[in-house]
Amino acid sequence: MVSSDLWDERTAERYDAGVASMFEPAVLDPAVAFLARLAGDGPALELAIGTGRVAVPLAARGVPVSGIELSAPMVGELRRKVDASAVPVAVGDMATTRVPGEFSLVYLVFNTIGNLRTQDEQVACFRNAAAHLRPGGRFVVEVGVPPLRRLPPGAVAVPFDVGDEHLGFDTFDLVTQQGVSHHYRPAEAGADAYGAHHYRYVWPSELDLMARFAGMELEQRVADWDGSAFTADSESHVSVWRTPQ
Ligand SMILES: C[S@@+](CC[C@H](N)C(=O)[O-])C[C@H]1O[C@@H](n2cnc3c(N)ncnc32)[C@H](O)[C@@H]1O
Repeated sequence: MVSSDLWDERTAERYDAGVASMFEPAVLDPAVAFLARLAGDGPALELAIGTGRVAVPLAARGVPVSGIELSAPMVGELRRKVDASAVPVAVGDMATTRVPGEFSLVYLVFNTIGNLRTQDEQVACFRNAAAHLRPGGRFVVEVGVPPLRRLPPGAVAVPFDVGDEHLGFDTFDLVTQQGVSHHYRPAEAGADAYGAHHYRYVWPSELDLMARFAGMELEQRVADWDGSAFTADSESHVSVWRTPQ
């Protein structure tokens, strides 16, 4: 049984507006260009494809894209943009669901590896990604570096957005590697004043080990889609692992 929160219809309907900044060309274009370059002439598979924020523009560039997605309502939102012949999607858990085909690229973006809240499931997800790849194919993950350097001794919370319209902070359980993102917004008609997102935070080196278990080696780790260098101060990373040729 999957540990991920299941995204319901209400969440799906509001997703694109809620993450509008992630649709900005300055954010999205470098991601799509990076993935298109790695996909080359082969098809790509997006794990947790959501409403197609990345998959739709990637497909528009000529890369055939398929998806796996746990939430049927999220797929419903994707279907408002493209039909199943353009971007086929299997509804299921990205740690275990198989789709037909052999891909040059499998990718999992926007911190979503953390939605699998056990180490076993994250390991299974790497194995599943590798099982979909052709020889020499690549698996790309975009995820934050756990911000534990910002956690003073004894504290359990790190704010990530403090404004009039949104108060967001993460709480961490350092024993179980579980995180919760708490979101508070002014109560308005039809909007939730509070929402929480549960995840398992994971270290870059731990991901490298998961890749090795799945028969892949780290090829590249950068701080962002623009290819900037990953350093001790990087808050997130884009990592690329490769199966043997
Ligand atoms: C932050 S959204 C990212 C969606 C899309 N990749 C994007 O970049 O906009 C996370 C997505 O992961 C999906 N998800 C969560 N757990 C999952 C799982 N175990 N298997 C497949 N999809 C999952 C959610 O339903 C949601 O659509």
